[in-house]
Amino acid sequence: MPEDDPECDIVVWGATGVAGELVAEYLTERYGPAELALAIGGRNERKLEHVAVDLQAENDDWDDVPIVLGDATDEESLVEIAENTAVVCTTVGPYTKYGTPLVEACVEAGTDYCDLTGEVTWVREIVDEYHDRAVENDARIVNSCGFDSVPHDLSTLLAQNYAREEFGAPCETIRLYVEDTSGGVSGGTLASASEMFEAASTDPEARETMRNPYSLAPPGEREGVDRGEQRTFKEDDLRGAWTAPSPMAAVNERIIRRSNALLDYPYGREFRCSEVIPTGRGIGGATAAGVVTGGLGLFTLGMSFGPTRSALEQFVFPDPGEGPSEKQMENGRFTVRALGRGTAEDGPFVVESVVGANRDPGYGATARMLAESAVCLLRDEVDSPLSGGVLTPASAIGEPLADRLRDAEFAITVGEYDESSD
Ligand SMILES: NC(=O)c1ccc[n+]([C@@H]2O[C@H](COP(=O)([O-])OP(=O)(O)OC[C@H]3O[C@@H](n4cnc5c(N)ncnc54)[C@H](OP(=O)(O)O)[C@@H]3O)[C@@H](O)[C@H]2O)c1
Repeated sequence: MPEDDPECDIVVWGATGVAGELVAEYLTERYGPAELALAIGGRNERKLEHVAVDLQAENDDWDDVPIVLGDATDEESLVEIAENTAVVCTTVGPYTKYGTPLVEACVEAGTDYCDLTGEVTWVREIVDEYHDRAVENDARIVNSCGFDSVPHDLSTLLAQNYAREEFGAPCETIRLYVEDTSGGVSGGTLASASEMFEAASTDPEARETMRNPYSLAPPGEREGVDRGEQRTFKEDDLRGAWTAPSPMAAVNERIIRRSNALLDYPYGREFRCSEVIPTGRGIGGATAAGVVTGGLGLFTLGMSFGPTRSALEQFVFPDPGEGPSEKQMENGRFTVRALGRGTAEDGPFVVESVVGANRDPGYGATARMLAESAVCLLRDEVDSPLSGGVLTPASAIGEPLADRLRDAEFAITVGEYDESSD
């Protein structure tokens, strides 16, 4: 935290964007001004004033939502924000393009920070550049506090904590099933995906980050037994269903491995994890898995080459600032189920943990995950030995985030796996 008492508890930086506005809406609905000194920030005063008026109109308690002006490219403005805030909660992306100066400002000011990045090549950059300095300054820089990667990182932590408590041993493997998921995607998210594909096609270090499953582990620890994401469709040996590769596995799996490394390997050094999409049993399940695999392959191919990537951006993707429809958000839902296998003294065991919500994963649910991560940091409601560094949700906050999300209507459970209920 900055040395002098900061003026503001949390700044939602990027509050005029699709995700940022939802975060500000959630925080003003959930908390009153007596509990939270909140400000909204961005580069466009007029748009911010509209957001502030809407927030005040929707919540009688909030008769003033302060505005903080700046620009992601104006370092001075970012230093001022970081020095006057306890927690900066940022949705200004693509992070590859706009994120680094804000991280630097927070690291130097010793200010806690959380974001929504799924840009794993950028996370690697800031790990290498800022982790040590963030440790020195007790600045908690917590990446990926949205659908990427809270449900995956947290369900893994819950399963591992349960296994260690109940069976005296961690799970050797965790498989994450992303199931029953429905929601939309925004122009901002697709722009961020484009930045990552561009980095991977032009920068050898970014390519290495995508190739190495351990690329987010601390330097010197970037190797292990895991071979990386599932790349084709396969029948699952545990549940007997077919599975397809999951588009965000490359991000979530690396974040989970980083959590394990930052926490000094409570999951073991031989720990392996994989994220898949289950598509059902029998011929129907196999066909669906093939279709999903093919679709993902085509998308990856299209995004890997400059001309097709530009064409997708220009003619297919929504523009930054455009989000999913009201209907998509209303009907949104997701479940991330983690099944962990381990071996106790008296034999093998399987643990199941679930994180889910009846909200659009990328927006309604993501807004709550990011907002509650910021509140956990603000109130120091964390179960973590780490007081600074470039961190992950599980390593920086841990189970207290699950408690807050349960209060925010998430379904979060952990226990022994009951095969008959599947
Ligand atoms: N992890 C997840 O599950 C998840 C889910 C949703 C979103 N995301 C990520 O979150 C990010 C935001 O997504 P979104 O859909 O909200 O995007 P968006 O609607 O395009 O919002 C981007 C925000 O950044 C602001 N901005 C852009 N350039 C800026 C600058 N130079 N200085 C200050 N502010 C600037 C925009 O301000 P203006 O309004 O002034 O343009 C806007 O407030 C993306 O990186 C996306 O990938 C992640």
